[in-house]
Amino acid sequence: DWTMAAFREEMKAKIRAQVGSEKVICGLSGGVDSAVAAVLIHEAIGDQLTCIFVDHGLMRMNEAEQVVGLFRNHYNIPLVHVDASETFLTALEGETDPEKKRKTIGRLFIEVFDAEAAKIGGAGFLAQGTLYPDVIESVSAVGGPSVTIKSHHNVGGLPDHMKLKLVEPLRELFKDEVRALGRELGLPEIFVGRHPFPGPGLAIRCPGGVTREKLDILRRADAIYLDEIRKAGLYDAIWQAFAVLLPVQTVGVMGDGRTYEHVLALRAVTSVDGMTADFFHFDMDFLGRAATRIINEVRGVNRVVYDVTSKPPGTIEWE
Ligand code: XMP
Repeated sequence: DWTMAAFREEMKAKIRAQVGSEKVICGLSGGVDSAVAAVLIHEAIGDQLTCIFVDHGLMRMNEAEQVVGLFRNHYNIPLVHVDASETFLTALEGETDPEKKRKTIGRLFIEVFDAEAAKIGGAGFLAQGTLYPDVIESVSAVGGPSVTIKSHHNVGGLPDHMKLKLVEPLRELFKDEVRALGRELGLPEIFVGRHPFPGPGLAIRCPGGVTREKLDILRRADAIYLDEIRKAGLYDAIWQAFAVLLPVQTVGVMGDGRTYEHVLALRAVTSVDGMTADFFHFDMDFLGRAATRIINEVRGVNRVVYDVTSKPPGTIEWE
């Protein structure tokens, strides 16, 4: 009889056998996969594990604080928190091409991670929260349609000189199984049930150029949208929900005055694996409520629209 409790113990034994007494480093992204991998490995080998969290400044509201709070303070897992937002935002300045934005972020991510790993020194293993679908996708991706559309950077990609062996305890699991394992490990629901979030973060939700100011507007609007979704009890029925700050300004009225501010698009989709998706059918009262709150509470947005495109022909993200 196969249970998560048994999988947990079995996998811990495998991890111990694989790494022996060597040091392991693990990159945390704020997502459920890397969090589950890190907690499991820490249970197996304790402080032989060090986590690295590269904060690229493109995270959502309070996300970086949550990661640090959970790993360093709650689990007491050795964690290096690198605030690299200045590096990333400077490099992104003036860049408007979606693929170049991704490449820049992917390249810097590896550089920063690599530098931190070198400071820790002596690690023999790199832990990754690779799932079964990632394994399949990276194999079938050669020339295939899914990954050539947008260059994802989560699987592989470390420079050869790092020469680390991989520890991938989630390689046989699907997303729902990773969530079940996360619950088994006692991870808080806010981590376990979290929607997927792309590696390049809010940069691809700011079509066009990325600036601190735009990120700040987007972050606040996105937090209100997600708050309303949670309050309405809809979070778990949705695969991904997020706001997109459009590089378009429109005219509005506020009090006696005319405004000229950004348009914000709201997106929510249902999906099984992200490969296809349907737009989520909110009721109009919900959308009206979210739009009113965002416009009232976030300076810089004066119009909100809802994206009713499914995938295909749209993609989930706007870039
Ligand atoms: P699209 O927009 O291609 O997204 O329909 C499908 C899924 O992939 C995520 N996504 C990314 N994840 N790096 C990532 O790690 C990326 O560059 C990237 N682009 C899209 C997206 O959030 C959705 O879950």
